[in-house]
Amino acid sequence: MHAVALSKVEKTYFAGQGDVHALGPLSLAIPTGQTLAVVGPSGCGKSTLLRIIAGLDDATGGSVRVADRDVNAPIPDVGIVFQRDLLLDWRNVIDNVMLPAELNKRTDRQTARARAQALLERLGVAEFADRYPWELSGGMRQRVAIARAMLCRPSMLFLDEPFSALDALTRDQMNVILQGVQAGQGVTTLLITHSIQEAVFLSDRVVVMSARPGTVLDDIEVPFPRPRRLSLREDPEFVDIARRIRVHFERAGVLVG
Ligand SMILES: Nc1ncnc2c1ncn2[C@@H]1O[C@H](COP(=O)(O)OP(=O)(O)O)[C@@H](O)[C@H]1O
Ligand SMILES: [Mg+2]
Repeated sequence: MHAVALSKVEKTYFAGQGDVHALGPLSLAIPTGQTLAVVGPSGCGKSTLLRIIAGLDDATGGSVRVADRDVNAPIPDVGIVFQRDLLLDWRNVIDNVMLPAELNKRTDRQTARARAQALLERLGVAEFADRYPWELSGGMRQRVAIARAMLCRPSMLFLDEPFSALDALTRDQMNVILQGVQAGQGVTTLLITHSIQEAVFLSDRVVVMSARPGTVLDDIEVPFPRPRRLSLREDPEFVDIARRIRVHFERAGVLVG
């Protein structure tokens, strides 16, 4: 069963100064419960791809199916985390996390609050529940954004370069925390990242995209059991997979980003 099935998806932006062929043709299927990481050069269409799957933007060609339905509007059953956390500065942490429940009104307030509290605990930020976003570090804020994305128990989680603005150590820590919060949840996850290490560490599979217009250059299974420790990154098999990805970018003469 595939949570996401893309067939020959294309995207052209019709801009005043000339059209931009941003994506495709790109075909890709994500099995239910899989964590798929997508890496590719800056501007190759990664964010476009995520927005198209989420129904936030239209493809200009091909077919986009999520949970066996054609996507033609924002899909409901997904939590999304962007590089910018988009927390609301006038709401405290727990009220930020509660936002999706207030919007969709399917979950009653008390249940949502208990779940928000539990998520903040699992993410190690429960003590900040009554604080405001501007009192938190970047890593803490991203944890709150992850809690908010997961509040309504979405079957899918999309992350678009969620840790790119964080320093290297915080980023490592976030990788471990994200893995912990995902564990055993069976959530289908699409992770866009420009870190090869992060892609391999967190995923079951890495798709490497070409430069714009982005297509699938390589598709690599990541076989390591979970939970994974950061020291896995020194494992020869891990190093081999990371190298296989890096070679694509070296060959193209581009940096990942
Ligand atoms: N709304 C838009 N209008 C016109 N061009 C766009 C728009 N959004 C993105 N693009 C262009 O499409 C290409 C892919 O963008 P994007 O998906 O953001 O790439 P990535 O996330 O891989 O860096 C880029 O060349 C970008 O400038
Ligand atoms: Mg992007």
